[in-house]
Amino acid sequence: MLLLLASLGGVTATVIAGDIGYAQWRENQRQRKIYAAFQPTAVPIPPNFVERPVISEMIRDRLTKRTRYEVIVGNSGTGKSTIVKKVASTIPGAIYIHPAMGGNVAATLADAFAAALNWEEQGLSWREAYSNDIIGNDHGRMLERMLEDFEHLAAKFQAEYGHPAVLVFDNINAIADKDPELLYKLQSYAKEAADKGSYKVVFVCSGGVAPAQMKSKLLSANLRWLRLLMLLQRIQLGREAPRAANAVSAT
Ligand SMILES: Nc1ncnc2c1ncn2[C@@H]1O[C@H](COP(=O)(O)OP(=O)(O)O)[C@@H](O)[C@H]1O
Ligand SMILES: [Mg+2]
Repeated sequence: MLLLLASLGGVTATVIAGDIGYAQWRENQRQRKIYAAFQPTAVPIPPNFVERPVISEMIRDRLTKRTRYEVIVGNSGTGKSTIVKKVASTIPGAIYIHPAMGGNVAATLADAFAAALNWEEQGLSWREAYSNDIIGNDHGRMLERMLEDFEHLAAKFQAEYGHPAVLVFDNINAIADKDPELLYKLQSYAKEAADKGSYKVVFVCSGGVAPAQMKSKLLSANLRWLRLLMLLQRIQLGREAPRAANAVSAT
């Protein structure tokens, strides 16, 4: 009897050890998948694309300079998303997030973030977790977990590459309009990351209430602005105006 119990105990221990080993393996795979999103990936270029070397260089500078977090502002249709996405796609460690307009803004942001980061919930795919109602509708918590994973891998990235990873949140005017608290939360993360030097955050917006909202907060201490006043017609004619006329940067 004792012998039987002992052998059963052995089997249980082996099963548990196997389970832990599997869980660890799965977690490593999950992290590896997220880390793969830190690698540059080419993005589709619109037809008749006009190169904008001056603006591209300014944006590259903003995405890679160490200190502070940034906001790039410019009127809707001036080509911000196209150029920021294109520049980001060439920089190792840059994750570009463009939440769709409409619907629940926390949900669309969480979806866009998960897709850009190859993100899955720990232990199961986030879709499984979502349908199992483990996450439910708490997209705020989901964002926190994604940011935790991102920060963890950003430290690994910085150690390997010698410069910080960067998160680019485009279309934040939609967030400011519908969920100002969410934008405040993102801005808090951005400031904290800038203070610690752990990673960099760049926001892109086309005016609206977002800039005023971000300026009025206590969080603006480490914040830098790039105001793009670019006329698409002008660049479409291949006459990109000189730097001073194209971009006004403050602080
Ligand atoms: N450099 C460019 N050359 C040609 N077309 C462009 C360029 N940049 C943007 N576009 C086109 O202009 C439109 C608006 O660009 P978009 O990047 O969405 O602007 P924004 O984000 O400022 O609203 C899109 O149809 C896009 O394909
Ligand atoms: Mg845009």
